[in-house]
Amino acid sequence: MKHIDIYDIFNKDDLIGQQVTVCGWVRTSRDSKNMAFLELNDGTTLKHLQIVIDKTVLSDLSECMKLGTSLKVVGTVVKSVVAADSVEVNAQEITVLGVCPPEYPLQKKRHTLEYLRTIPALRVRTNTFNAVFRVRSVVSAAIHEFFQSRRYTYVHTPLITGSDCEGAGEMFRVTTIGYSNEYKSAEEYDAADFFGRRAALSVSGQLEGEVAAMALGKIYTFGPSFRAEKSNTPRHVAEFWHVEPEVAFAELPDIIEIAEALIKHIIRTVLTRCPDEMKFFDAHFEKGLIEKLEQVVAQDFVIMTYTEAIEKLQNCGEKFQYPVSWGCDLMTEHERYIAEVICKRPVFLTDYPKEIKSFYMKQNADGKTVAATDLLVPGVGEIIGCSEREADLDKLLEAMNLRGMALEDYNDYLSLRRFGSVPHSGFGLGLERMIMYVTGVQNIRDVILYPRTVGSIS
Ligand code: 4AD
Ligand code: MG
Repeated sequence: MKHIDIYDIFNKDDLIGQQVTVCGWVRTSRDSKNMAFLELNDGTTLKHLQIVIDKTVLSDLSECMKLGTSLKVVGTVVKSVVAADSVEVNAQEITVLGVCPPEYPLQKKRHTLEYLRTIPALRVRTNTFNAVFRVRSVVSAAIHEFFQSRRYTYVHTPLITGSDCEGAGEMFRVTTIGYSNEYKSAEEYDAADFFGRRAALSVSGQLEGEVAAMALGKIYTFGPSFRAEKSNTPRHVAEFWHVEPEVAFAELPDIIEIAEALIKHIIRTVLTRCPDEMKFFDAHFEKGLIEKLEQVVAQDFVIMTYTEAIEKLQNCGEKFQYPVSWGCDLMTEHERYIAEVICKRPVFLTDYPKEIKSFYMKQNADGKTVAATDLLVPGVGEIIGCSEREADLDKLLEAMNLRGMALEDYNDYLSLRRFGSVPHSGFGLGLERMIMYVTGVQNIRDVILYPRTVGSIS
C-alpha cells in the first residue's frame, strides 16, 4: 500500500500543498456541524497527525470516528491552523481498513501501567510504549555502533548450554522427555535425554564469549539470557537481553573505562536521536530526566571499593530493612542508597568479597576479594556486572573446587588457561535495566514487549 510515514509528514518541508496518502489508527476524534477532526498515529512518531474533514466533501463518517479504527487517508498537507510550526491534512478520501468496536480497551486517555500489562497486544499503541520501544531500538543500535566502530567482533553464543556460568543454580532445564520412575537415577534420565546429558538455557554468554575473545581479541555478544530467579521485583525478568563484551589484555581499570564509555555513548545517542520521546519521559515519568542524563555524560562516574561502601552504609544513620556488614551481599536498597544518596551519580563498586561473587573472577592479592565491579545507578541499582577473569589455571581450579563444581563440564573454558592464557575482562549490561535508567520507567515489565516473570507468561 503506497503511503507516507507520519514522521515524514512532520519532518519534510516540501510536502505543503502536496497530496499524500497516510495510514494509521484513530487516536482521537471530534465531530462538529460542518467539520470533523481525527488524530491519526501510525507508530513512526509520537506525534498524531490531525486529519481535517469537510463534511460537505465526505459525509459517511460513522465508522472512522471510532477510536482504534485503522484508516487510509488521501489528502492535502497544509499548515496547521492552530500551531504555526505544524501541519495537518485536509482529507479528500478516507478508506476504513479495519473497524474497531466500542469495547476497544484504549478509550480513556490515561490508563495505569498495571492495567496496560493485562493487554500486551494493545498497550504498544499507547504513547508510553510507542516511546519505550523506539528508545529501546535506538539503544540497541547505539550498542552495536559503539562496539563496531571500535572493531569488536559481534559473536553469537549458544542459548542452550551444558554449563552454568553464574553458578547460582537459576537455570531453566531444556528437555524433551519427562522424568519417570523407569529411570533408575538422574544420570540415567539425563543420558536418555536429547543431548545425552543435562542441558539448560544459558544465563550468560560469557564463558563462550571468553573462548571467542581468546582468539578474536575484542568481542561482544548481544542476545537473550534466561534466569529462573524467583525474584518478583520491578527489575527482574526471566528472559532479558544481555550485552556482554569480553576483552583480551584488559585488566579491571581498562574494562571500567570501556563500560563507562558505553553507557555515556548510549545516553548521548538517545538524547540526540529521540528528543520527542525524551521530552515525553521527562514530562510523564521522571521530572528533570534530560538534565540528569546530560549531567551523567558530563561527569566522571565514581569508583569506590565495596569495603568503603560498607563503611559508609554502616555510618550513614539510615535504617535498612537488611542489615549491613562486611561480607554481605548488597540488596537493592543498599545499592540505590549508595548511588542516589552517597554518590548521587553512577558508581562502580569494586573488589567484592570473593564468597559472594562468581568462580571466574580474578582473585586479588589480599586473599579476600576479587577484581569485580558492579555499576550501580540512581533509580535502578545494578545495571552492569563486570570483572577481570581469573587467568591462572591453579587459582581457577581452586575456586571451582571450593564451590563443588563439576570440572568436566568446563573443559573448553579451562583449556583457555592452559594454552596461552592472558589477562582479560568483560561485563554484562542488562538492556532492560539500561532502558529503565534512560527513560525513568520504574518497572522492567514496561520496557519489554512480553515480560516473562515468575508465575506469569502471557
Ligand atoms: O551480574 P550478572 O549476573 O553478570 C553476568 O551474568 C556476567 N556473566 C556478565 C559478564 O561478565 N559477561 O548479570 C549482568 C547484568 C546485570 O547487571 C543486570 O543488568 C542484568 O544482567 N540482569 C538482569 N536483568 C533483568 N532481569 C534479570 N533477572 C537479570 N539478571 C541479570
Ligand atoms: Mg550481578
